[in-house]
Amino acid sequence: MNPILIRGVRPYGEGEPVDVLVSDGQIAQIAASITAPDGAEVIEAAGQVLLPGFVDLHTHLREPGREDTETVETGSAAAALGGFTAVFAMANTDPVADSPVVTDHVWARGQQIGLVDVHPVGAVTVGLDGKQLTEMALMAAGSGRVRMFSDDGKCVHDPLLMRRALEYASGLGVLIAQHAEEPRLTVGAVAHEGPNAARLGLAGWPRAAEESIVARDALLARDAKARVHICHASTAGTVEILKWAKDQGISITAEVTPHHLLLDDGLLESYDGVFRVNPPLREASDVLALRAALADGVIDCVATDHAPHAAQEKCCEFSHARPGMLGLQTALSVIAEAMVETGLLDWRGVARVMSENPAAIAGLPDQGRPLEVGEPANLVVVDPDARWTVEPAELASKSANTPYRAMTLPATVTATLLRGRVTAADGAARPVAGR
Ligand code: DOR
Ligand code: ZN
Repeated sequence: MNPILIRGVRPYGEGEPVDVLVSDGQIAQIAASITAPDGAEVIEAAGQVLLPGFVDLHTHLREPGREDTETVETGSAAAALGGFTAVFAMANTDPVADSPVVTDHVWARGQQIGLVDVHPVGAVTVGLDGKQLTEMALMAAGSGRVRMFSDDGKCVHDPLLMRRALEYASGLGVLIAQHAEEPRLTVGAVAHEGPNAARLGLAGWPRAAEESIVARDALLARDAKARVHICHASTAGTVEILKWAKDQGISITAEVTPHHLLLDDGLLESYDGVFRVNPPLREASDVLALRAALADGVIDCVATDHAPHAAQEKCCEFSHARPGMLGLQTALSVIAEAMVETGLLDWRGVARVMSENPAAIAGLPDQGRPLEVGEPANLVVVDPDARWTVEPAELASKSANTPYRAMTLPATVTATLLRGRVTAADGAARPVAGR
């Protein structure tokens, strides 16, 4: 593998520019000026920011079963272009990832393609049916080494089953990630329950459907002395409950999506199915509460909930559109817009919420590491001053359901490195040659 010299970059966007030499998969040298060794690839990064590669705890890659909308290959390309070096692929595939047959396959595909580490998420219940726990230990011991389990898309709503899942996971040292949605409160719901949904005639999803499960699971985690992770927090009330639970010493962590940090339910006016998502876009006051919570650490990290869907599943009546939006390739820019340009986070803060914290939550020892000599070269170079306009057809995903179409956003990823290999540069992904 050729050495790589990143020239004139500012680690975490702080201090004077430096040259960073990467070789043998590691950061080999950081100095004011380094002469490029023979055969080195040089990345000119004057004025740019170096961060640890991003880690996404929540993505849907649709393989196996819906390869018409995304595959591990196309999703990996979107991830590398978005600056990610590790992603967690959710279990709601077809067949469901509820056995090592599926989870080992997803891991192996990711490694073959080589653009990003694709960690499979195992289902909590067989077939996501909410009735019987899966053999988590088998999936954890498989080659895919599953370390996170979730029925995402569905809530593990039976409290006794959730309690058992937390106890079992705690013994295995793995994490349960909950899609917090009390299903009896969301029957037929397609939009946030509030004045907008009422005016538009859309069936509402109350905040309490999320908050009641977050509160319940915090208590179950306390009693089981287990850890619980809350997927895609979306309401100001959830923030209050998280704050309370953390103050009690309960092991609870939470993620927020880029879209819940930037968009609100005013967009539903258009009845455009691209804005349908679970949990739904909330009100502007929730958006502000989520931003503040991410800035002050009540919410631990950003996770994309990248959810590709076919055109015919989105370009239809709003209430028939499938919930979900693309997120991998726009995540950094949306965080820059919602958190950096508003002064809520600096680039060190972005490293914390997009890399260090998610790596720690998932227990990935070689991700989210400090930018220091001897550390694994899982890196992203960001141009903080660039702006780009989102064109769905130009995204690497097989689907085009981005809610940011035609929006101009700040910050671009200029290069991503996975264990010292360039996986994306100048807007193109670079899969392993000769696969
Ligand atoms: O909007 C969503 N889409 N939320 C989920 O929980 C699942 C996801 C999907 O799989 O499309
Ligand atoms: Zn979900």
